[in-house]
Amino acid sequence: MMPESRAKGFIVENVSKSFRGVHAVNGVSLHLRPGETVALVGPNGAGKSTLMQLMSGVDRIDAGAILVDGARADGLAPERIAALGVGRTFQTSRVFPALTIWDSVLIGRQLSLLRGEGRTLIDPLRESLSVLFGLPFWRRRVARQEAVAEATLKLFGDRLWPKREAQASSLSYANRRRLEIARAGG
Ligand SMILES: Nc1ncnc2c1ncn2[C@@H]1O[C@H](COP(=O)(O)OP(=O)(O)OP(=O)(O)O)[C@@H](O)[C@H]1O
Ligand SMILES: [Mg+2]
Repeated sequence: MMPESRAKGFIVENVSKSFRGVHAVNGVSLHLRPGETVALVGPNGAGKSTLMQLMSGVDRIDAGAILVDGARADGLAPERIAALGVGRTFQTSRVFPALTIWDSVLIGRQLSLLRGEGRTLIDPLRESLSVLFGLPFWRRRVARQEAVAEATLKLFGDRLWPKREAQASSLSYANRRRLEIARAGG
């Protein structure tokens, strides 16, 4: 069993990943603590994106372990890792072009919206009925997430907040990155 101080946060332990003989990630370890900002730097092909793919569950590790708040996360599907509170962005921005900036960030709040019930996966029927009947508990829960979305967009000053009704496709490259970060965080 791990000591409590080591259990919190995101731990990568001696993780390796090869693609047909190419050692993309070789025995990498790191520990991200809550609230910490860490940069991963390295030359082209060093394995940075591969490590992100492994940490978010898109690719499977060959060896080692990944832990989120002390629980094994390697082997989990990406949506299960997301439900643990792990958000990510992509090297080439992936926004939903036809959605507004506001709706894009609300999508990022979806798991938190549903997590309050002890549920970690999306339950479309329950959500649809709550919206249709305008249930007060649901409206309060949505308002809480809208407040987080607003605060998250405002982290970028006037880059995104005044444009929140515009489609994501209208944003500059830099603002698309900001939108992706806002969607992943908060
Ligand atoms: N899906 C894959 N199939 C085969 N090889 C891959 C795959 N993904 C990554 N690689 C190889 O793994 C190595 C690490 O690539 P990766 O994209 O992780 O590097 P990076 O550090 O993100 O580079 P960059 O700075 O260019 O983004 C490279 O040799 C790459 O060609
Ligand atoms: Mg990369």
